[in-house]
Parts: sequence; structure tokens; C-alpha cells
Amino acid sequence: MTTALCPGSFDPPTNGHVDVIERTIASFDQVVVAVVDNPAKDTFFTTDERLAMLTEMFGERARVVTFSGLLVDFADETGADVVVKGLRTVADYEFEFQMAQMNSHLSGMETVFMATKADWSFVSSSLVREVARLGGSVSGLVPDVVESALKERLR
Ligand code: PNS
Repeated sequence: MTTALCPGSFDPPTNGHVDVIERTIASFDQVVVAVVDNPAKDTFFTTDERLAMLTEMFGERARVVTFSGLLVDFADETGADVVVKGLRTVADYEFEFQMAQMNSHLSGMETVFMATKADWSFVSSSLVREVARLGGSVSGLVPDVVESALKERLR
């Protein structure tokens, strides 16, 4: 039984996240989606809101939880075997690679990178927030539940 951990800020979850999480569900026995709870960081959606959106999106297909502290400690607590992260561009690569190596240094945790589908390579949570804030359409870039939550928040 292999458990994969998909960690992230998910502020908000995008179709790129959905793609990576769905492919992780298809590839591993069990999947835990872990929303980081970092009180020191200002987020657009609260941790509870992000948790609720992801729970609505994945229902029974993945366990959606929040975590704080070191990812490797949380992975240990949950019994996760591997961390799965999506890679969109070369820009992602540098930081993701460093984090993967740090996690490996700290606990031997393995990280598997999944290439994001080309359809979503330009989609990031920060750009989604900016476009939505400035009145642009994010339709087709985020799940419906996220689009509604963005509209509600920016009304
Ligand atoms: O969606 P993101 O912002 O790429 O997610 C980053 C995340 C949450 C995976 C990363 O910030 C993280 O692991 N945070 C927990 C704290 C930690 O373990 N830091 C050291 C990482 S090497």
C-alpha cells in the first residue's frame, strides 16, 4: 500500500492542482492532500476555506487535511511514502528541486515530480488571484467551487 502526499498552499486550488492530484490518485493506492496552515503567511482564503474547497472537489477519492510545521514530520505522522509535486515550468524546477533535496536531507523523504499538462502550465494560484481581483475571468482555470468562492469574496 503506497500513500502519496500532495502538499501545497492551494490559495486557491487551480485546475493545474486538480490535474496533478487526479493523476496521483490514479497512480497510488492512497492520497493525502495536505493544505499548509502557516499563520505567519497572509492568505487570500483561510485554511478552513481551502480545506473545504478541496474536500468538496475530491470527496471520497482523497483524504484532505491541513498541516503545520515541517512537511517531513507530517509525512512521518501520516505514514506517507512519497511526496508528489507538479512541475509547470523551468521556473518551478529550481525551488521545487531544492525543497525535494532538503526534505530528502531531513528524513529521506522521496519526492516525485509530475509534469503538469500543457493546458495548465501558465496557471498559478497567484495569477488566478490577480486576474480575479482585477475583474478578469478565471472561468476554465479553476474548479467551479473555486470560481464561485472568488466571486463571492470579491463582490
Ligand atoms: O503550493 P506551494 O506553495 O508550492 O507549497 C509549498 C509547501 C506547502 C509544500 C511548502 O511550503 C512546505 O512544505 N511547507 C511546510 C514547511 C516545510 O517543511 N518547509 C521546508 C520545506 S523544504
